[in-house]
Amino acid sequence: MNDKNDEYIVDIKNLHKRFDDRIVLDNVSLRVAHGENVAVVGRSGVGKSVLLKCMVRLLKPEVDKMTILGQNVPVLNKNDLNHLRQRIGFLFQGGALYDSMTVRDNLSFPVRRTLISKNKQEVNRMVEEALDHVELLDAIDKYPEELSGGMKKRVGLARTLILNPDIILYDEPTTGLDPITSRNISNLILRIQKEFQTTSIIVTHDLTCTKITANNIVVLQDGRFIEKGTFDDMKNSDQEFVRDFFQ
Ligand SMILES: Nc1ncnc2c1ncn2[C@@H]1O[C@H](COP(=O)(O)OP(=O)(O)OP(=O)(O)O)[C@@H](O)[C@H]1O
Ligand SMILES: [Mg+2]
Repeated sequence: MNDKNDEYIVDIKNLHKRFDDRIVLDNVSLRVAHGENVAVVGRSGVGKSVLLKCMVRLLKPEVDKMTILGQNVPVLNKNDLNHLRQRIGFLFQGGALYDSMTVRDNLSFPVRRTLISKNKQEVNRMVEEALDHVELLDAIDKYPEELSGGMKKRVGLARTLILNPDIILYDEPTTGLDPITSRNISNLILRIQKEFQTTSIIVTHDLTCTKITANNIVVLQDGRFIEKGTFDDMKNSDQEFVRDFFQ
């Protein structure tokens, strides 16, 4: 089966997620085509990270349909879920680097865990190539605490890229960075999409990042996608909240 020929890489229908009696996502639906970069924007606390976590089953939603890369996510057994997760790169909001490991070890860890057949030289080569992509080869022997916020994000990105994922879920890839670093990361996300034909979902409230990276945008508000379209569509939206957001 060649999943890349499936019509949609991500196909979610009526996803509902609540915590106790608080509804966070109220029947959201989302389709992402192969090679597309979709930005999910919305205010803080609206449920963007929850959506990404539901997609990799770190959280369990109620949902009518949720296929990713042709796999029916809600019913996958543990093995198949792990296999799918290996094809999904997840850039966590906080970077999620291991503080006690060097950059090299942070990157080689997922490779060793998932591709046990690789020898040491081969893993080193992969680590160096991934760091080269984010222009951080010279930080290879540093520890996370020795890196700036932007460098940590880039290391996180390199670690996401190293397994050559078919789809990447970026959670706030540019938040907290200065405008130049933020722009560099956004350009990198765009380059990754073009170079590897990767499909991506980019959760962000950074408009510059959205403008640079996204082919399509969805706006999350009150548990629902209240608008979908291009950056220009958002600026010309009928809805005041969306126009204000994209000012
Ligand atoms: N594991 C959890 N248990 C209970 N409530 C949760 C859990 N995870 C998230 N929430 C709640 O769900 C809501 C949405 O959280 P989420 O982290 O998705 O927001 P967000 O849109 O990513 O915000 P930000 O832009 O600040 O990252 C919040 O009210 C949060 O408190
Ligand atoms: Mg979040």
